[in-house]
Amino acid sequence: MSLADRDRKVLWHPYTQMQTAPAPLEIVRGEGVWLHTADGRKILDGISSWWVNIHGHSHPKLNEALAEQARVLEQVIFAGCTHEPAVKLAEGLLEVLPKGLARVFYSDNGSTAVEVAMKMAMQYWSNRGEPRRKFIALENAYHGDTVGAMSASGRSIFTAAFEPLMFEIVHVATLEQMDAALSSGEVAAVLIEPMLQGAGGMLMWPAEFVRGVRQLCDRTGALLIADEVFTGFGRTGKMFACEHAGITPDLICLSKGLTAGYMPLGATVTTEAIYNAFLSDDRAKTFFHGHSFTANPLACAVACASLEIFKEEPVLERIAQLEQQLREGLERLRKLPHVADVRVLGGVGVVELASGGGYLDKSGPKLAAEFLKRSILLRPLGNVVYFLPPYCIAPEEASWVIEQMTDVLQ
Ligand SMILES: Cc1ncc(COP(=O)(O)O)c(C=O)c1O
Repeated sequence: MSLADRDRKVLWHPYTQMQTAPAPLEIVRGEGVWLHTADGRKILDGISSWWVNIHGHSHPKLNEALAEQARVLEQVIFAGCTHEPAVKLAEGLLEVLPKGLARVFYSDNGSTAVEVAMKMAMQYWSNRGEPRRKFIALENAYHGDTVGAMSASGRSIFTAAFEPLMFEIVHVATLEQMDAALSSGEVAAVLIEPMLQGAGGMLMWPAEFVRGVRQLCDRTGALLIADEVFTGFGRTGKMFACEHAGITPDLICLSKGLTAGYMPLGATVTTEAIYNAFLSDDRAKTFFHGHSFTANPLACAVACASLEIFKEEPVLERIAQLEQQLREGLERLRKLPHVADVRVLGGVGVVELASGGGYLDKSGPKLAAEFLKRSILLRPLGNVVYFLPPYCIAPEEASWVIEQMTDVLQ
């Protein structure tokens, strides 16, 4: 029996309609931007394996860091214990994060990084004896699939079945609406995906908007949570998307590129002021949150090695080169009658088709199949076709993908 047949008998894949989805690709090896299949094909990973991979698959330095760590300590409880990779990674993160962030709390994926931020924000106010219950988020937001992160996300087909379960969040589309929503004074925190909303349709925002949100939060005391699970670690051309606006959030959520896409790890990083609100002789003020795999040493070790790669290799320069290629290459598609918009930021190139059917638009699966025939792994969000490869993609490889995108979309 083939692997795909065995898979079909026992597995259930994420975001996959199992009745109609094509057979999964059998991936046996990854190297740089390439995924190798069991039947000998070589496919370019145009979505960085769900936006996680940044330095390419099977990077020798990352492989070595992981293997070396596995030889000494694979996992240990992180309540009451610590270890070198966790401390070293926190130190390394604080060096590169926007100034003012001072305390790292680990979890194990993007959704939990967001859950932690929301719970920290709410308990911060409660510990101060000034409870605030409301959250504000943006329309079309995507913050993850656990219930809190899902509540913060925009309402969509992703969330429809769970409507009764979700707590109330005010979703806004403009600074004016946010200003109005903040006026009640009971807002614990505002959540944004700075500069770039991912799963909601690869929507891009100007830096002034992010600065405006920071100002509104400063004025009303609401905490600002920047969800950089997708945008962090170079994806938008800066190490963190908040840098485009020159702002520091009160809490930042990290995952995906944190470990260069090698291991599940989340981090919620906050300020000393927020951390201090949890310090007390009263044990009830403890932050009662943790996951079995918090600060997994393997994940932390590979994340440390990834930060070193940012220092040793011209990573941000590579992203700038890719951005320029995407701008020049994709812009030409704007004139096509069925193209509604072309957007580029950092290492993310987006072509939005005018069909406008949203996530369930029929063009998505058809386009994915056509790109696969051409040995490129893309996974359009319905009518929104996007390309975001590992940063190590060679200029010739990026040109080739842009040519293929042009040909298919024409
Ligand atoms: C902005 C953002 N936040 C949170 C998440 C959730 O991350 P995870 O899938 O690791 O739970 C994602 C995932 O795509 C994301 O793009």
